[in-house]
Amino acid sequence: MIEIKKQYAKIDTLNNSLIIDFSKDAKLVYLGKKIADCDDYDFSGVRRAQTFSSADDIDALKRTVSSSGDGHCREGMIYLCDEDGNATVRLSCEGIEKGNKKPTLKGMPSSHGESECLTIKYGDKNFGVEVEQYFGFFDGSDVVATGVKIINQSGKTIKIKRAMSLQLDLPDGDYDVLTLDGASCRERRAVRRNVNGGTFSNSSVAGLSSNCHNPFIEVTKKGYNGFTVATNLVYSGNHKELFDIPSMGGARLLSGINDYLFDFPLKDGEEFQTPEAIFTVAANEEAASAEMRKFVSRNIIPERFIGRERPVLINSWESFLFNFDRGKLIETCKKAAEIGIEMFVLDDGWFGKRDNDLSSLGDWFENEKKLGGTLQDLADEIRGLGLKFGIWVEPEMISIDSDLYRAHPEYAMTISGVKPLEIRHQIVLDITKEEVRREILEKLYGIIERSKAYYLKWDCNRGIYELKNSGELFHKYVLGLYDMLSKLTAKFPDLLIESCASGGNRFDLGMLCYTPQIWASDDVDPRERTTIQEGTAKAYPPLTMGAHVGHIPNWHTFNGTSYDNAFAVACCGAFGYEFDVTKISEKDERTLKRQVEFYKKWRSVLQFGNYTVNENSEERGISSYTLADDKKEKAVATVIYLDRTINKLYPVVYIKGLLPEAKYSVRFTSDEEIKFTASGSALEKVGVYIGNLYTSERIADNYNSIQTVIMEIEKI
Ligand code: DGJ
Repeated sequence: MIEIKKQYAKIDTLNNSLIIDFSKDAKLVYLGKKIADCDDYDFSGVRRAQTFSSADDIDALKRTVSSSGDGHCREGMIYLCDEDGNATVRLSCEGIEKGNKKPTLKGMPSSHGESECLTIKYGDKNFGVEVEQYFGFFDGSDVVATGVKIINQSGKTIKIKRAMSLQLDLPDGDYDVLTLDGASCRERRAVRRNVNGGTFSNSSVAGLSSNCHNPFIEVTKKGYNGFTVATNLVYSGNHKELFDIPSMGGARLLSGINDYLFDFPLKDGEEFQTPEAIFTVAANEEAASAEMRKFVSRNIIPERFIGRERPVLINSWESFLFNFDRGKLIETCKKAAEIGIEMFVLDDGWFGKRDNDLSSLGDWFENEKKLGGTLQDLADEIRGLGLKFGIWVEPEMISIDSDLYRAHPEYAMTISGVKPLEIRHQIVLDITKEEVRREILEKLYGIIERSKAYYLKWDCNRGIYELKNSGELFHKYVLGLYDMLSKLTAKFPDLLIESCASGGNRFDLGMLCYTPQIWASDDVDPRERTTIQEGTAKAYPPLTMGAHVGHIPNWHTFNGTSYDNAFAVACCGAFGYEFDVTKISEKDERTLKRQVEFYKKWRSVLQFGNYTVNENSEERGISSYTLADDKKEKAVATVIYLDRTINKLYPVVYIKGLLPEAKYSVRFTSDEEIKFTASGSALEKVGVYIGNLYTSERIADNYNSIQTVIMEIEKI
């Protein structure tokens, strides 16, 4: 609830308070656990430190916005420059407004379901600029959404050199900073480091939010009065998060569009809107993560997909790559239907003359010879077998060897005189151009209409390195992408879209606003996937992650494992299979049938349950979580044991996320089937001894893998 008294706006969220002083130098007076109302919140004594090099004082440590030339020697939020090179921008607060709705961000996605919004207006008359900053609040949540709009009133064109979405000025101290870092096939591993001085930067530069550094960041102040602030950005392009701890005092967290090559012109009268950032504060990392996950499930993914069941799918990629024909596809679908699988996804290789990755991107018409008829025929036949139909596309790309490139070379992002950099033998379509977007969208509409697809996998397998008009290019590319996605989802609101980018190279809140699930990684080796999913779950709920049981031994790591281990890791995500099920033994087929049956029985808990980390411990080799329904009556707890040391007792695992007072029946299989009853508090405090998982059968299936247990938990 927003309360405005004197020069203060105090907002109480579910557990927290946020206090903004909107006198001339607007300040974030407080962000933290709920505090009781006061008449005044300014208890400072002498304001000015003895400083010779800057205008830093106590007020400077708590700013809600900052700019170039404002006199403070720390990283700033908004850097502007006029035609004469003048970058002196001194913003002062001009007023505050409260309302119910956040502004609609033109051309960009944002969170939904807010109940209140506070808008703060700033201006610099000399420079001729106005800035509007909003803070959106949500019932039952501690997450706050924010962003700024820059309005040029200078009478001339200015350049935006930096425009961050979020600035949070925090107390100085000793911080741990957690980011999700990686590469293709090892995306979003949680990395923690200590930052107690200097400027830490987390960023992406190739036009996608990237598998190198995700926009999610958590900063944890250690010691007395410790807390964790988590932030994430609703954006899919180059981003940058800065955590600056100047020796003068204070700590500043910034997040927004990366200023790498950014030089965005703004004509007189024009506005520039930053993407939305979200943030929360909590007692510790895990509590902040839990709040962010809850927010993504309720306020980021499209409302029509909240609570909508996802079918168990089988994808053709790790089954056949490009090598299939109609016979193989139909045989696969027949077997899949027998196993209980509910949807078939035709991945890469169905269009143009694409029998490898050398050609055809852009030629979005089916290869009738390969498919043994039209796409419509094939999809109808598959539906006749009782499966839904899904299809793969890569709309942002073009192959030089394609009809589209031959007809329209100008559609590709190229620079005259420079040989285009082909990555995976493909170049990027210039989707900043309206006519390019229109042409590709029309082709996509045709594919979806003809095949009546239930599901679409939207892939993107490279970054942007042809940097024409570089000051605007990256951002305009993202706007082009959002324009395509918003038109597509408006035309086909029920189409379930899974986005993908060489695995998880664009796993972010911007994509999740259109596509409720994202292929988390091409690496489905359960050992590797455990780390990837554990990291991803710091910021995103498990159902946002596409997670499959893939080919064994794994294609990337060559590790062997059992189908049950692979299932135990994949079953918390948007679940499916991705290998040739026509080639498996009868015993394995029985295993898969059992898994699908289990999955369907527990689907509502696995897909919509609240995720609680029981333990993530590299040292003990344990990754364990509980998924429980809202009432905590039904739960699935998974234990993934990554240690292979022998002559060592198996550890006790503490099961969390249940009602302490309630009694539960618990069932799982280690070397034998175990059944017992226990209270929620006993499961959490006494813990469960998992026992020996190395039955001879399991050993035979495992070469270099993991051991897993899935517990079925029901309130009695
Ligand atoms: C990369 C994706 O991550 C894979 O799942 C698959 O769709 C291939 N692209 C197809 O080219």
